Amino acid sequence: MRCICPPLARCSFILFILVLTRLVTGGSVNRTIDDVRGDSATGALVQYLPQVPAGSKSLWFNQTSCAGCADVPDAGQTFDGTWSAALYQANVGSLSVTMKFTGTHIYVFFVVPNFLANSGLASTVSCQFFIDSVAVGTFEHQSDGSGAFEYNSLVYQNVTLPDEDHVLLIETSGSDAAIIIFDYAIYT
Ligand SMILES: *[C@@H]1O[C@H](CO)[C@@H](O)[C@H](O)[C@H]1NC(C)=O
Ligand SMILES: *[C@@H]1O[C@H](CO)[C@@H](O)[C@H](O)[C@H]1NC(C)=O
Ligand SMILES: *[C@@H]1O[C@H](CO)[C@@H](O)[C@H](O)[C@H]1NC(C)=O
Repeated sequence: MRCICPPLARCSFILFILVLTRLVTGGSVNRTIDDVRGDSATGALVQYLPQVPAGSKSLWFNQTSCAGCADVPDAGQTFDGTWSAALYQANVGSLSVTMKFTGTHIYVFFVVPNFLANSGLASTVSCQFFIDSVAVGTFEHQSDGSGAFEYNSLVYQNVTLPDEDHVLLIETSGSDAAIIIFDYAIYT
């Protein structure tokens, strides 16, 4: 049978289904922000600082570019097959990962390394979290010396944010060396 309903009626029907879907899910949808591919809905990319002039050595490493890295995470076990890491040292001053999102919940996932005790590699993961420029938390981890990477490690979550635009800043600074390996974030 040929459909003879006017376009407006069809639009209303689609709108009705959308409203119903939102009601059923409580209006909450999880979206991901991948370290390389960015926001699954908007495509907005994550920003990494410090940025280096073209041609000089980057402080940030990833699954495709990690010259001189002795021990790297298995990209196959990370979200979207990607990870982004940086080694912080006091002379760097500050390094950071920044992303924007709109919503009420944010969950941040790292790959947490436990480099072998005698490897000479960074034994500490350390960073501070800021939402809209307000310090809201920290994550600290000391290597257990086992050599194991902990994938999908939830290092920060906040489920009490007002439903509006937010900026999440993950920063490492201070006098102690540390490594961070960012994989992805989820926001609701
Ligand atoms: C969103 O993701 C978080 C973290 O994985 C999970 O705890 C939560 O149940 C998810 N919420 C929805 C609506 O899928
Ligand atoms: C990996 O890192 C290099 C050097 O920082 C950068 O040029 C490249 O765009 C990165 N690639 C991905 C897929 O993140
Ligand atoms: C979540 O963010 C709000 C707004 O910045 C802040 O007041 C609150 O302390 C945060 N909660 C957690 C668990 O970090």
